[in-house]
Amino acid sequence: SWPSVALNTGLQMPLLGLGTYKLCGPEDVRRAVDAALAAGYRAFDSAAVYRNEADLGKALRELLPKYGLTREDVFITSKLGPKDQGEKAMEGALHSLAQLDLGYIDLYLIHWPGTQGLPVADERNPGNRAQSWASLEELHGQGKLKAIGVSNYTAAHMTALMQSCKVPPAVLQVEFHPRLCQPELRSLCAEYGVCFQAYSSLGKGELLADPVILEVAKNCERTPAQVLLRWAVQHGVPALPKSSNPERILRNAEVFDFTMSDADMDRLSALDCGHRFCWDPSEVA
Ligand code: A2P
Repeated sequence: SWPSVALNTGLQMPLLGLGTYKLCGPEDVRRAVDAALAAGYRAFDSAAVYRNEADLGKALRELLPKYGLTREDVFITSKLGPKDQGEKAMEGALHSLAQLDLGYIDLYLIHWPGTQGLPVADERNPGNRAQSWASLEELHGQGKLKAIGVSNYTAAHMTALMQSCKVPPAVLQVEFHPRLCQPELRSLCAEYGVCFQAYSSLGKGELLADPVILEVAKNCERTPAQVLLRWAVQHGVPALPKSSNPERILRNAEVFDFTMSDADMDRLSALDCGHRFCWDPSEVA
């Protein structure tokens, strides 16, 4: 089986999981989950806003037996939608649990530090986040959410959470790739004992055409996607490549059978320029 990282709850999380953003509709989801399970993926990353929790849960319930697997063999992540931030958080998390219908969720994240419908700088955002966190802590206490964490939090959001929480976050999931190496957030997570997890390791697919990535891929005799994913996992950072294509799902997973030289690792890291392909949370109060 693939390498995993130990979360501060003691739970093991696989270093590679399937991102499911934009996987939509029962056939699409089922095809991707089937390909992923066949390729060895045991972790799946969903979210309320992806609108595929029900399809993912159904696909897993139907397909796990085909691979001789049970619920306990897979690690399921989902996320609280920004529209449910605050007083609706309990309801939102319970809705995710019901949609997935897998008994429990391994990891549940606050998707975004802001609240849908409020301006980013709104003073109510910190209170809403605290209220959401308290709901997640309660469901964690009940065993319905095995681990809880956050996504898209900045260093300031993280520090405030660490100072006020009863249960510390297990994971911070943020955009991470060679053009956005996030040194500050990574060292903060190390200090706090929080697992730093990557999304958009492929830069939404756009980094696959980067000339440096292409050259390193040629040196390593690997695909650009494998090089980008290897760079993340070789840093010990769990990654969540998204693909709906069975062949790419399979190939993207072939990152545990080679090592990149320090020189190649450094060439990729030197691309850091703070570039984001996704939303910037730094303005959220
Ligand atoms: P597709 O679903 O058609 O494979 P990220 O995880 O950084 O958000 O990137 C996901 C995007 O990259 C998706 O558009 C996905 O498209 C594409 N993608 C994923 N793996 C590969 C690959 N190995 N080669 C080319 N494109 C890929």
